[in-house]
Parts: sequence; C-alpha cells; structure tokens
Amino acid sequence: MIVPQKKWCVTVPKQEGERVRKELQELSLLDERYKIEERNGRLYIPLKGWPHECRYDVEACDVELRPQTLRKGLGISYDTIGDIAIIGWFDGARAAAAELLATRKNIKVVLAAVSGVRGEYRLKDLIFVAGERRTETEHKEYGSRLLVDVSRVYFSPRLATERHRLAELAQSNETVVDMFAGAGPFTVLLARKVKKAIAFELNPIAFRYLKRNIELNKLHNVEACFGDVKDVAPKFPGAAQRVIMNLPHSAFNFLSEALTVLSSSGGFVHYYDVKPENEFPQTIVTVKEFFQNRDRTVETIHLKKVRSYAPRQYHIVVDIKIAPS
Ligand SMILES: C[S@@+](CC[C@H](N)C(=O)[O-])C[C@H]1O[C@@H](n2cnc3c(N)ncnc32)[C@H](O)[C@@H]1O
Repeated sequence: MIVPQKKWCVTVPKQEGERVRKELQELSLLDERYKIEERNGRLYIPLKGWPHECRYDVEACDVELRPQTLRKGLGISYDTIGDIAIIGWFDGARAAAAELLATRKNIKVVLAAVSGVRGEYRLKDLIFVAGERRTETEHKEYGSRLLVDVSRVYFSPRLATERHRLAELAQSNETVVDMFAGAGPFTVLLARKVKKAIAFELNPIAFRYLKRNIELNKLHNVEACFGDVKDVAPKFPGAAQRVIMNLPHSAFNFLSEALTVLSSSGGFVHYYDVKPENEFPQTIVTVKEFFQNRDRTVETIHLKKVRSYAPRQYHIVVDIKIAPS
C-alpha cells in the first residue's frame, strides 16, 4: 500500500497547475518523487521543503510517493527539450535512461551532459546514452514551435516561464531587440506579440535555426542579423523600446550596445546574470551606475530570481526602466 505523507504543497486552481508546476521546477522547488494531488478543483503541488519566497498559497497536505518504478526514472533530474531528455552523467546513467525511455512515452532520446555550459556559443558537451541517435528535436513552448539541435545550439527549457513573463510585459507597438538570440525562443515568443523583433546571433548554426524558427512560426516581423553584437548593434541606433540580454556572465560587457539600440524615448532592458544571493544588491548598484554614468536616468530597477543554477547560485534577471534622454 502507498502511504500518504504530509508535505508542504503549493495550492493553485487546476487551470493554473501546469504553468505553476513548470515555474516550481525551474526554481528547483518541485519534489518530483511525489504525485500532484487534485481536490475540489485545486492542485496540491509537492515542494522540496518550506519555500521562503513563494508567491503562491502553501499548505501542508497528504501526498503519495510515486510508484517505485517511476521513481527510479524520476529520481534523477533531467531537462526535456522536445522528445530529448538531457541528464547529468553518473554511474548508472544507462539504466536510468532505459527507465526513462520505458516510463516516459514522450521521450525518444536520452543524452548526458558531461560539461557545464561553456564557450562563446554557450554549449554543453553531450554524449549519447539511449534511444534514437539524433540531437535535433522540435520543442513546443507557450504555442511557439522551436526546432533545435541541442548539441550545437544553446537552449534551456527552464526559461519558459521567464520568456512568458517578458511576452506578457511587452506591448503590441514595441520593437524588441533580442541581443543574444540563439535559436530564437525569446524572439519567436515576443514577435508574436510586438510590432517588430530584431535578433542578433553569432553562432552560425544557431542562426540557421533562428531563421528556420521564424519561418516555422510564420513570422513576418522579425529581422535576424548574423554577427557579433558589437558589430551589428550600431546598425540599429535607437530602434528598440525593449532589449533582452540573455548572456549570463558576460552581459555587462554589452551594456553599451544595449544603450545604442535603446530608443531615445526610453524603454526596458532585461539584463541576465548568474549570481549568489549575497551579490544581488551590488549587481543592482553596478548596473544602475552604468546607465547613470552615461547620463541616462534609471526610473525603476528590480532584480528577480529566474531559477536556481548551481548550489547557492541563481540565474537572475534585472529589469531596468530607462527614462527618455
Ligand atoms: C545563453 S545563450 C541564449 C540564447 C537564447 N536567447 C535562449 O534563451 O535560448 C547566448 C547566445 O548568444 C550568442 N552570443 C554570444 N556572444 C555573442 C555576441 N558577442 N554576439 C552575438 N551573439 C552572441 C551565443 O552563441 C548564444 O547562442
């Protein structure tokens, strides 16, 4: 018999369940060993512990462990991109991959990451573990279709909620510049909402997928530019009301280019980085000073955790609203 246990759960109306489950997964708060319970039209989503910063209702609730067979596959953490699962390499990875293929019908390929994200193109080294021998897949996210080769193009499904947040913030009359577009997940989602999107990318293979994804999503308002931001940004002076800078670790080196493309009537810069919590205040100060030293007024500046990245390190976003110059 499977005995229920009391655990802290986020409770939300059923229709919000999938979005909130994904968000908790991205923040590494979801305890996937337990089943999500449904009662009276509400879902109870099990958490790993007590969430210190949670914007949803939290209740202690009886939840059941998933059956042992499923738990073996689910006990490992993995990312799903289309029908490809990416796990971290460990002794026993092949058995876990076989379990995943047997229990998750939507997964056809299992790859293992044997390095962190690295290099200018921000790629991980991947090895084949099980299933079909391929690295290309189509990923679906909030109605966007995204074709990617996971071994040759950066893509993280864990940013889905963040991309959706930006799409919700964007206005229909805006031009958006996605400075580090990759295969275009931000570009495609935002282009469906805004007047125009301009995307820069320097990895030729990512650029090829960006172009294919623009076509696949039948978008006619995207200008994709191949090349280094340092070279292509000057071609779009003052073009954007919103600038997306998803290049953690290095975005600071491109803030001048963000200012180049930002409209003189002001707008938003979304600046991404990876930082430990004790460096959050200094990050805000440094970014704010950059703009102030160039005579641009920062109207508002907010830092938000996007997801946990490594022990005590967070992928963060700083939303900066710049006043007209
Ligand atoms: C962290 S990835 C983000 C990709 C995409 N925005 C996403 O969220 O999936 C950063 C991307 O920027 C590209 N990149 C890095 N340096 C660049 C530069 N100087 N100019 C243009 N693109 C650059 C990389 O090739 C990579 O595809």
